[in-house]
Amino acid sequence: MNSLHFMGTGLYIPPKVVTNDDLSKIVDTSDEWIYPRTGIKRRHINEGLTNSEMAARACKQALENSHVNPDELCCLIMATFSPDTFSPANACTVLHMLDLPEHILSFDINGACAGFLMALTVARGILAQCPGKKALVVASEFCSDFTDWTDRSTCVLFGDGAAAAVISLDNFSPFYFTGGTGKGDEAIQVKASPRAGDDFHVIRMTGSKVFRFAVTVLQQAITELLGRAGLTADDVDHIICHQANFRIIKHVYEKMGIDPAKFYINIEEYGNTSGASSAIALAEMNEKGLLKRGDKIMMICFGAGLVYEGILFEW
Ligand code: UT7
Repeated sequence: MNSLHFMGTGLYIPPKVVTNDDLSKIVDTSDEWIYPRTGIKRRHINEGLTNSEMAARACKQALENSHVNPDELCCLIMATFSPDTFSPANACTVLHMLDLPEHILSFDINGACAGFLMALTVARGILAQCPGKKALVVASEFCSDFTDWTDRSTCVLFGDGAAAAVISLDNFSPFYFTGGTGKGDEAIQVKASPRAGDDFHVIRMTGSKVFRFAVTVLQQAITELLGRAGLTADDVDHIICHQANFRIIKHVYEKMGIDPAKFYINIEEYGNTSGASSAIALAEMNEKGLLKRGDKIMMICFGAGLVYEGILFEW
C-alpha cells in the first residue's frame, strides 16, 4: 500500500522543432538512417530558456491542474542530468522562480534517464513522513546544451523538455518497485570537469552497449514487477518505457509477447529527452485523457550508470 496519487500534471515542450532533414544539413546523416534505426522524426530544442525556467513552467501548470495550495507542499524534487548550476540545486531555483513557501525542501536527483522514477520513489518516502502533504516532482532536461553538434552518433538522438506532477500518498492501492545498477558506467558519460579528460560537458555514448543493457533490464523489470504484484501483462493497462529507441521497446514486446498497444510511444515527436522522457509521456497521456482512475500503469526507465528502475501503480 502507500502508493502515489497523481493530483495534476504539467508539461513544457519547447516550441522549436528540429527535423531529421534539418540535422542532415549540419552532420552526415539522413532521415533514412535515423527513423528506421530509432523511431525519431523530430525533436524539440530549447532556445532562450534555462533548464530551471523550463522546469518552472511545467511545475506551474502541474500546480494549476492539481488545484493544490503551495502551502500544502512538503518537497520539490527535480530530476535532471543537465542542470544550469551544480549548486544550488535547480529545484531551489525553481522554488524561488515560482515564489513557493520556504518550508518546502528542494533538491535535485541525477538519475539520468531514470531520474523521474527515482524522484517519485524518493518523494513517496518523504510523503510518508509528512501526513496530508503533497510533493511537486519535475523532470527537466536541456540535453541540447550538452550535445556535441558535430557528433552524428549522439546529436540526432536527444531533445529537450520538462514535465511535472503534484503527488500525494494513496493509502488504498499498492505500489511496486524494482531497480538496480549494471556494469558499464563508461557507456554513457557527460564529464563535468576538464580535469576528467577531453570531451567534458558533452554527451558521449556507446549506443550498442546501452541497447543490450536496455533490452535485458526492461524484460527483467517487467517480469519482476508482474511477479511481485501477482499480475500478468494482460492485467496492466499502460506501459511507459524510457523513450530512447523505438526498436528497444519493439524488441521487448515481441520477445515477451505483450500487446504492443499497451506501450505508449512518443519518441517520434520528442526524441530522447533523458530523465524527462517518462514524465513527458505520463503528462501527455493525462492531458489527452488516456488515463482512467484505477488503471494499472507500469513505468520502466534505464540510462547512464548503467541504472534502471521500474514502478507499478494504479492511476
Ligand atoms: O537515454 C540513454 C539511453 N540510450 C539508449 O538507450 C541508446 C541505445 N542505443 C541505440 O539506440 C542505438 O545503439 C543507436 C541508435 C544509438 C545507434 O544505432 P546502431 O544500430 O547501434 O548503430 P551503430 O552505433 O552501431 O552505428 C552503425 C553505423 C556506423 O557506421 P559504420 O561504422 O558501420 O560505418 C556509424 O558511424 O552507423 C553510423 N552512424 C550514423 N550514420 C548516419 C551513427 N550515427 C549515424 C547517423 N547517421 N546519425
